Amino acid sequence: MKVVCTLDDLSSHTGGCLVPTMGALHEGHASLIDRGVRAGMPVVVSIFVNPTQFGPAEDFDRYPRTLEADLEICERHGAEAAWTPSVEDLYPDGAEAARAAANHLRLPPVATTPRLEDGCRAGHFAGVAQVVSRLFDLARPALSVFGEKDFQQLRLIEELVETDRRGERRWPHLRILRGDTVREADGLAMSSRNRYLSPDDRSRAVGISKALQTAHAAQQPATAENLMAQTLEAHGLEVEYAVVRDPANLMPVDDLRGPTRALIAARLGEVRLIDNAPLPAWP
Ligand code: PAF
Repeated sequence: MKVVCTLDDLSSHTGGCLVPTMGALHEGHASLIDRGVRAGMPVVVSIFVNPTQFGPAEDFDRYPRTLEADLEICERHGAEAAWTPSVEDLYPDGAEAARAAANHLRLPPVATTPRLEDGCRAGHFAGVAQVVSRLFDLARPALSVFGEKDFQQLRLIEELVETDRRGERRWPHLRILRGDTVREADGLAMSSRNRYLSPDDRSRAVGISKALQTAHAAQQPATAENLMAQTLEAHGLEVEYAVVRDPANLMPVDDLRGPTRALIAARLGEVRLIDNAPLPAWP
């Protein structure tokens, strides 16, 4: 496997499958790499902790950086290259200028109206859209894989690519693949931030996947939302949102007759965790 550190070296790895990451790789990321490999594409994994998607009070400085272990995972899962761009490669005018520019990006409604991550993390999706667009511009992938664990992010990227196809056509042949959420044995969705949890909080964190399961029994959105909130609180989790939404636009639904998605954000002290799952449709 090649470790690509410059844009010159990247030029011999364009056109395949890009798996964008911020490093601190775990089995969830590994399954995204597997997905690209199964699609028969040479896989490039980008590893870049993107400053423009972190708010001033968020964990940019202490975000885990585990490059050696990340490279091993990439190699073990058959990536052709791991690409570790510098800030200058992605943002030639520097991170501060990029942060300012991100504020002027036009985002699709799915990233600005549902009041989910967009309501809790001001500026986050502008930074995500900015860095992912830049990664696509430079790596020019035919395929890119994003996990369902960050469901609103996934929908944002799908909409960005769709909007681009109808307009600018910077990436007209790019296809986005969805990667399943990978869970620990007790149901906790894998996340780079799980490593921040104390042993006590780690045992409480299972309340999130339990809450998603309790929602399956409900026949009305409001009932599902109440059941989820109760389960989260019973595990000592502080609820930011626990809602049932339309899986396309992420807006509220009136009933559970069509496709729906339950989405949760909850806190254990300083650690913020998110998860989501589809709900069964009731006749
Ligand atoms: O999901 C992530 O790890 C990041 O938001 C992404 C897509 C790599 C952009 O920095």
